[in-house]
Amino acid sequence: MSPVAFNAVVPAAGAGARMGGTTPKTYLPLAGGTVIEWALAPLLAHPGLQRLVVALAPDDTRFAGLQAASDARLLSVTGGASRAASVAAGLGALGSAVDGPVLVHDGARPCLSGDEIERLLAFASDPAGALLAVPVRDTLKRADGDGHVAATEDRSGLWRALTPQLFHGGTLRDALGDATDSAITDEASAMERAGYAPRLVEGDPANIKITRPHDLPLAEAVLAMRGGQLR
Ligand code: C5P
Repeated sequence: MSPVAFNAVVPAAGAGARMGGTTPKTYLPLAGGTVIEWALAPLLAHPGLQRLVVALAPDDTRFAGLQAASDARLLSVTGGASRAASVAAGLGALGSAVDGPVLVHDGARPCLSGDEIERLLAFASDPAGALLAVPVRDTLKRADGDGHVAATEDRSGLWRALTPQLFHGGTLRDALGDATDSAITDEASAMERAGYAPRLVEGDPANIKITRPHDLPLAEAVLAMRGGQLR
């Protein structure tokens, strides 16, 4: 069976303020490469990938120097002030290819597995789209603003959204609209606002987003355990 053909958008235009330091988190060193190279690798390795658009910060000088930048399927655009605006810019660069399945993956998620991509692509023709997510397993506490517990929340039916998220590109573009709403922290929430109910596809809890400095050794351990190589 031939692989599902898809395009991809990778937002990588954020500054990553929670990491501290001056290097954006996507360019931090990780397992013989950088965070973004590991985030791109499983997408570039997939035989169904047609085109991949990376949204970069306006002052980015690093991406062009990466080996992945020379891949003929890859192009870059300038991202926007929010993640949603960066994704919208990426969709715009797809041209007519936006009219098909588009997978959106954070440039700061270096531990995506090929198996997760496969599970998501099984829903490529679902008009509501699909996203990787993991069920919440811990007990949830609501804070009172003063470091104390105000309440214990019911965790049943709650999932944490990961990426990739997969939608028909044109539908997602319309759902993102002018992409200025700060409540839109993932593509699925834009689709939900437009009246769709995207499918939850169970992902791997190891598919973490690099947000804090201690996330890097965790990602390093996951990649070492898998034994994959960047080049
Ligand atoms: O900030 P956060 O961790 O949610 O960012 C997730 C992804 O979105 C990162 O890869 C980041 O570079 C990207 N992003 C972007 N444009 C922005 C803000 C974040 O492409 N304006």
